[in-house]
Amino acid sequence: MPHSTLEAAPTSHLDLSWVRSQFPSLSLEVNGRHAAFLDGPGGTQVPQRVIDAISEYLRTSNANTAGAYATSRRTDQMIADARAAMADFVGCNSEEIIFGPNMTSLTYAISRAIGRELGPGDEIVLTHLDHDANISPWRALEERGVKVQIADIHEEHCTLDMDDLARKITPRTRVVAAGYASNAVGTINDVKTIVRLAHEAGAMAFIDAVHYAPHGPIDVRDLDCDFLACSTYKFFGPHMGVLCGKREHLARLHPYKLRANTNAVPQRWEWGTLNHECITGINACVEYLAELGRRSYGDVQRVGHRETVADVGTGALARPAERSSAPDPNLPGNVGGSPGRRQAICSAYRAIRAHERGLMHRMLSGLAEIPGLRLYGIADPARIDFRCPTFAVRIPGHTPLAVATKLGDQGIFTWDGNYYALNLTERLGVEPDGGFLRIGFVHYNTEEEVDRVLEGLRRVAS
Ligand SMILES: Cc1ncc(COP(=O)(O)O)c(C=O)c1O
Repeated sequence: MPHSTLEAAPTSHLDLSWVRSQFPSLSLEVNGRHAAFLDGPGGTQVPQRVIDAISEYLRTSNANTAGAYATSRRTDQMIADARAAMADFVGCNSEEIIFGPNMTSLTYAISRAIGRELGPGDEIVLTHLDHDANISPWRALEERGVKVQIADIHEEHCTLDMDDLARKITPRTRVVAAGYASNAVGTINDVKTIVRLAHEAGAMAFIDAVHYAPHGPIDVRDLDCDFLACSTYKFFGPHMGVLCGKREHLARLHPYKLRANTNAVPQRWEWGTLNHECITGINACVEYLAELGRRSYGDVQRVGHRETVADVGTGALARPAERSSAPDPNLPGNVGGSPGRRQAICSAYRAIRAHERGLMHRMLSGLAEIPGLRLYGIADPARIDFRCPTFAVRIPGHTPLAVATKLGDQGIFTWDGNYYALNLTERLGVEPDGGFLRIGFVHYNTEEEVDRVLEGLRRVAS
């Protein structure tokens, strides 16, 4: 959980020109101006190595799995490598990683399997801050007589009402499903406490980390969550979903699956033929992050710098990292595959977070000066560690669609509407008026892009 304040934000170690050189689409132009991709929450751009890995797979290894010939064996190896990469990314074992078309489908797979064991008298706790992909798959179990409770928010800064959540978790609760961060207003939730509250009541905890994944490091062992889902297209990879589940659950629960499907964990949760070329792209995207970490903090490898999620995590960044002269074999990383990769990923997020902090400060102070503009979510710069650089705004007299269109014509890509955070737009009463305008930054965005969007908003408001 974020806990420190940001009086002394550390200097970013992010080499922004190297970062931007990795993403070929960032050079796109619209109406003579370079495109500002502020649509990361809807999906990020991909580095060249992801594009290369996908085409290389199709050129040299394209086959179905488990065949007795070269390209099929290569495909099996490639999937195993990608599982190891994702295991390093979230801090679990390879066999706890499941691939699927997207987070929504994987969440339905888990909710259906859990639902087979539930009925009247059982309850599920959700939140008003969540994307509908972490609402509807659970609400579907209402047809089995399961009761759904929804934890409320503090409207003034769009943070989760933890007291309300705690009240709603009772001995009848079987699952608590919550987001790591809101894809609409950017709030980062105290997921570790949410998991603890769920476990104290004997319930399972399902965490939707889709929006958090491009912004902060994930450590499922530290969180102790039972399931965590994310989508690689939100953190610089291809359009795929990934689910991490505790092995005991993946082995015990009964997924709906084909007779011919293996019962092995985790493959019993993966049905039909997967998108192999995109899976190879996942490996490349994790490697991109690892290289970013190594370049940002070059001493990670040389001196065995103990870079862990605790050092990097949102809020903990200002703490000086501990150093030792030898790599620590007990580090929570490298559980999946390549030595040092998890540490390097954590280092990448340290650099990403520092850079994004700078963007957030600039954006918050600029937004505060635009007459009439309303920001939904945390506005206090001292509480920046509790948010991602995702900003939901409205300007009186202009629909979010009209503002997004004006910005789009200037090459500034934003979103309007509810982005499926339907519970939140309904709760805040903005759904009938077009939702919010969402401006989302990731680590490849620049201060110049912050200034451009602020100028665009100023012109609309004045
Ligand atoms: C927070 C959050 N959860 C879940 C989803 C659904 O992800 P997917 O498109 O992979 O099903 C999204 C997509 O925008 C999201 O932002």
